[in-house]
Amino acid sequence: MSYHCFQWTITIIFPLFCVIFYLYSKYKLTYWQRRGVKAPYKCNLIFGSFTDTLTLQKPPGKMLQDIYENADYNEPFVGFYIFHKPMLMLRDLNLIKQIMVKDFDIFPNRRFGGAKQRDSLGLINLLGIHQPGWKYLRSKMTPSLTGLKLRNMVPLMTNCTIPLVNFIEKAKNNDNGWKEFELKDISSRYTTDIISSVAFGISTNSFNENNDDFWKAGQKILTGLKRGITFLILFFVPDLCSLVLPFCTEYSKFFRKIFWDSMNTREELGTKRGDLIDSFLALKNGEQSPEFKFEGDNLLSQALSFYVAGLEATSSTIAFSLYELSRHIEYQSRLYKEIQTHLENEELTLESINKMEFLDQIVNETLRLYPPLPMLDRIASKDYKVPGTNLIIKKNIPIYVSINGTNRDPRYFENPNEFNPLREKNEMQDITSTSLAFGLGPRSCIGQRIGQVITKVAIITILKEYILSHKTKDENLLNPINVFTTAADGVHVQFKKRTNF
Ligand code: HEM
Repeated sequence: MSYHCFQWTITIIFPLFCVIFYLYSKYKLTYWQRRGVKAPYKCNLIFGSFTDTLTLQKPPGKMLQDIYENADYNEPFVGFYIFHKPMLMLRDLNLIKQIMVKDFDIFPNRRFGGAKQRDSLGLINLLGIHQPGWKYLRSKMTPSLTGLKLRNMVPLMTNCTIPLVNFIEKAKNNDNGWKEFELKDISSRYTTDIISSVAFGISTNSFNENNDDFWKAGQKILTGLKRGITFLILFFVPDLCSLVLPFCTEYSKFFRKIFWDSMNTREELGTKRGDLIDSFLALKNGEQSPEFKFEGDNLLSQALSFYVAGLEATSSTIAFSLYELSRHIEYQSRLYKEIQTHLENEELTLESINKMEFLDQIVNETLRLYPPLPMLDRIASKDYKVPGTNLIIKKNIPIYVSINGTNRDPRYFENPNEFNPLREKNEMQDITSTSLAFGLGPRSCIGQRIGQVITKVAIITILKEYILSHKTKDENLLNPINVFTTAADGVHVQFKKRTNF
């Protein structure tokens, strides 16, 4: 480039580009203002309202909570931007119910994975599929998780508590006679064993380093910087999905082999084990519809989605429940008594678990404060007029719910930041029966019951044998590059063996 040309670029073209970019950004970032919607959160000309998340400083769940809490107290919705794309956050329970339940037909799809339906292992499942495929797939997958099926899975789950207890037993005591653990590590190993057993039909022991390949693969899929960025893109900038999807196939070969070995062996032997492989075989051999064919990777993708969605959410619920119990000795004693009452002469069954009401309150309160997936999202499939207002949500505008924001809103929960499993039933429970931790409406979590049972089996097993105590040096900072609710420093608790049950 000649000197003259360089000087021209510096003095004319570059400043002109900056002015055009500035004016363009300013225009884009007034989308909500032009529609009379408040968008109070500070905006950056490039990153929009999501600067701290897109620069990997704040987890998206916390970012959305800040946007929620920055709005006027009674504002039913606020606008925000990811880069220049406008999004709407709902801040009113009745409006959330209206959009996610009553007007589900207009908002049936998630933004996760993008508008284009990709034939990718990670997305041809309930998490990523769009209507009309979603309705058909959901109707076919729901029967695999009925109460009866769940009851038959409880013995498979209790089998997986044996390596967990052995691992705790073998750990060395510290000088004060306590055993110290990072809970997310042990809960993810235990949950991996259960999900590999119920969704892949195989027996693993993730507490044994010679048999923990499944756990290692799960950790590589769900944790680390590369995965953190991949999930950020899948959830928040899905238009760039095609850039990251090639990295998501790293473990497909590993899971494909295990899944099909298990399916083929079961089919050959003609046996039933009461797990999801039984259901997947029935779907494979049943009548097929043009909407969705249960064959090849289409089947594997269902098992994988259960693994990915279930593993992280359930292991984090176990870790945070035990953490809160370790900090509240009064609730720990009360729960221990409840477990003693119901298990004195009984085996652990779905019925005995369902009788433990206080345990249910503990898990629900934990999920209110630490929702593993901290947000819900939907996309408007056509223009939609928000009832009682003049606002038209245009087709393809994403809608977000901050689960942290709503679950910690003082309008819905008194002393919202306090862990109180004995809180009175309130407006929120009229709508969801728990909190928003499992989502809402027809597209809410299909694994709610199994996730709760896996969590409860772990809590019962541990509390029956050990007293828990909180380790105060624990910082519990949120991990900035994780879409899911995770503690950057881990969740540290110490255990001491009970002397009698
Ligand atoms: C405590 C544990 C769990 C929590 C807190 C949780 C939370 C959630 C949330 C918030 C959603 C989004 C709901 C919405 O958009 O309205 C979801 C969806 C989903 N979850 Fe879970 N989940 C848990 C356990 C599980 C388990 C164990 C499985 C697998 C068996 C699972 C499978 C799924 C699937 C497949 C979806 C997509 C459902 C659809 O779009 O039809 N989850 N979960």
